[in-house]
Amino acid sequence: MLFKQQVWLRQKLLVLGSLAVGSLLYLVARVGSLDRLQPICPVESRFGAAHNQAELPLRALQFKRGLLHEFRKGNSSKEQVRLHDLVQQLPKAIIIGVRKGGTRALLEMLNLHPAVVKASQEIHFFDNDENYAKGIEWYRKKMPFSYPQQITIEKSPAYFITEEVPERIYKMNSSIKLLMIVREPTTRAISDYTQVLEGKERKNKTYYKFEKLAIDPNTCEVNTKYKAVRTSIYTKHLERWLKYFPIEQFHIVDGDRLITEPLPELQLVEKFLNLPPRISQYNLYFNATRGFYCLRFNIIFNKCLAGSKGRIHPEVDPSVVTKLRKFFHPFNQKFYQITGRTLNWP
Ligand code: A3P
Repeated sequence: MLFKQQVWLRQKLLVLGSLAVGSLLYLVARVGSLDRLQPICPVESRFGAAHNQAELPLRALQFKRGLLHEFRKGNSSKEQVRLHDLVQQLPKAIIIGVRKGGTRALLEMLNLHPAVVKASQEIHFFDNDENYAKGIEWYRKKMPFSYPQQITIEKSPAYFITEEVPERIYKMNSSIKLLMIVREPTTRAISDYTQVLEGKERKNKTYYKFEKLAIDPNTCEVNTKYKAVRTSIYTKHLERWLKYFPIEQFHIVDGDRLITEPLPELQLVEKFLNLPPRISQYNLYFNATRGFYCLRFNIIFNKCLAGSKGRIHPEVDPSVVTKLRKFFHPFNQKFYQITGRTLNWP
């Protein structure tokens, strides 16, 4: 009898203990996430009247973001959306590409900023005729709920290379901010190939070697018909965009540096978006197992990107790599000249 009572008491103490530890951890996590916010500071912005009218302190935004999260999880009602002034806003900035440049990492890292809300999915509104025909309201409804003071960012890397997109985006918002993340063109092309190769392998299909696709067997020159090569000729595509937008509306992110040293790259983006600096080293930690930086929201919540980001590339014949680098060189020089950002690619 005494033994039974002891077991019961021990179980009860265990439950109470777990509850206390859980609550403590939660509190520390909340404080941790608030700690990294500097003294209350309004969101100054070049994003137009809506922003300046109701300047909401970032600390409040961070708190409200918790509610937003609840809403996304389906814990809030339409009534709550109305009560908290949640809206679905068109993006004020778009990550237009480049595919395999690090577009997902950039979006997720920017989303660490309390004034930024990301569209989780690639919407493919401007590059897909069927979607585009559904109209701008369809696009807006695809956007996440946010507070009016926040900015929504979406990414669809296909925008960068699709002919019709610049004009379509211009028609929506001629002063939109355009983020373009690039990697050394040959590495990007190999990354692009690796993604396609993996897709084929998943379907038990065979695929050509990279060398066979990238080099024209008849001329032994670089095969400019190969999409992965064409996408890496950044100037060709950028020139189409420049018919609609001045270069000041673009910000170039160094995708290679975002891998090794993400914070300075993110700080440049914060500046470009005219956001107060809020992403700190605390939010980014290197995960040795993953081999990449991962995201830390607070002491409990952190995440790394999915395994499909950061694939191991197949080995490529060094002479093909050299040929490709030589091929891209003049285009790269022009890219530095147009954008004003020198990336020292080989
Ligand atoms: P690889 O798979 O070639 O390594 P995108 O999101 O545009 O498809 O880009 C994918 C690339 O993002 C990956 O290419 C990877 O190198 C890069 N990347 C940058 N930062 C990363 C991070 N923190 N975690 C995982 N991948 C990251």
